[in-house]
Amino acid sequence: MRQDEDRTGGGPAEAAGTDAGAGTDAAAGTAAAGPGADGREAALRDSAAFLVDEALGFLFPAALRAAADTGVADHLADGPRTPAELAAATGTDARNLHRVLRLLATRGVVTEDGRGRFALAEAGQALRGDAPYSARAAVLMLTDPTMWRPAGELTHCLTEGTTAFENLFGMPFFDHFAKDERTAAVFHVGMAAMSDPENALIAAACELPASGTVVDIGGGHGGLLLEVLRRNPGLEGVLYDRAHVLAGHRLAAHQEIAGRWTPREGDFFASVPDGDVHLLKRITHDWDDDGCVTLLGHCRRALRPGGRVLVLDAVVPAGNAPHQSKALDLMMMASLTGRERTEADFADLFARAGLRLSRVVPTPTVLSVVEAVAA
Ligand SMILES: C[S@@+](CC[C@H](N)C(=O)[O-])C[C@H]1O[C@@H](n2cnc3c(N)ncnc32)[C@H](O)[C@@H]1O
Repeated sequence: MRQDEDRTGGGPAEAAGTDAGAGTDAAAGTAAAGPGADGREAALRDSAAFLVDEALGFLFPAALRAAADTGVADHLADGPRTPAELAAATGTDARNLHRVLRLLATRGVVTEDGRGRFALAEAGQALRGDAPYSARAAVLMLTDPTMWRPAGELTHCLTEGTTAFENLFGMPFFDHFAKDERTAAVFHVGMAAMSDPENALIAAACELPASGTVVDIGGGHGGLLLEVLRRNPGLEGVLYDRAHVLAGHRLAAHQEIAGRWTPREGDFFASVPDGDVHLLKRITHDWDDDGCVTLLGHCRRALRPGGRVLVLDAVVPAGNAPHQSKALDLMMMASLTGRERTEADFADLFARAGLRLSRVVPTPTVLSVVEAVAA
């Protein structure tokens, strides 16, 4: 299920019959109550049930995390199994595993066959560690304590106007990862897993020159650069990131792009390598406006004549409809200093950095190509 199709767009009426069950009877039983005092009271009861249901919603990602952590999906590859069989295979408690699976079944991750056996449903296939586009590492990254704990402290962001992460971990997000090897691995491997399914689609949406140098700034393990170089045989690439991140890059494993890429370690707040195209995928949303202007200013100066900056990030849509960016925005608020941006926000950032927003190209993913040229 895509996040922008989730139930966050619903209110009490839509919540009637949702998976967690709380409030379902109240909502169904009061629909016919009609207007007037009784109807108003019933609506308030529905509202309360809806909010309780929503407040319990955090337990779903908690269950998803537990399933990802124990690797239970890997043991469902060959067909349905009972919680007892799965518990024996994963070294977990059968009764508690059953309870986790029962909740996951309410959202189509697994299904129970009526005879006490669970199978992976379509939406659960990518929970397997060996699935192409496995989301297991992404789930573990997104629900890691570095994300989860600050999210529980959003009130701090509201009252203090600052990130909750530093309050909890004593230093900024990326500094913590540079110091803590375990968390760094969780983040960067998880980030690559989150990006893998979108990289080829985004590479296809980027209009790139026939020749020249593409620099993937904060390119992580190189998944996007790999797809860009595969599609554009006349291009050379530079993968630019911190040294400890580049140590895990995957470009060398792909013979078809051999000799066309270079890893470059550095700090993008100090400088960025020269190039004809600068790619910034899921970078600007990590940083506040001043940080982005510094970074984009370096891009502006390092752009060769006729060059372009392609920011690959979500563009927050107007209106009330659910969109992944609206949720991720709160993660940026809680754990980092950044935010998700509207098209107007990007235009302002570019203008401050000596660039001009030239166009926005949607992609089949939640991200868009926000293109800038020298002003
Ligand atoms: C959210 S991740 C995005 C990774 C990749 N572009 C993707 O979409 O999967 C942010 C990346 O920025 C890198 N980064 C953070 N601060 C940096 C800095 N000061 N200089 C260079 N890279 C940095 C991180 O190491 C990480 O790889």
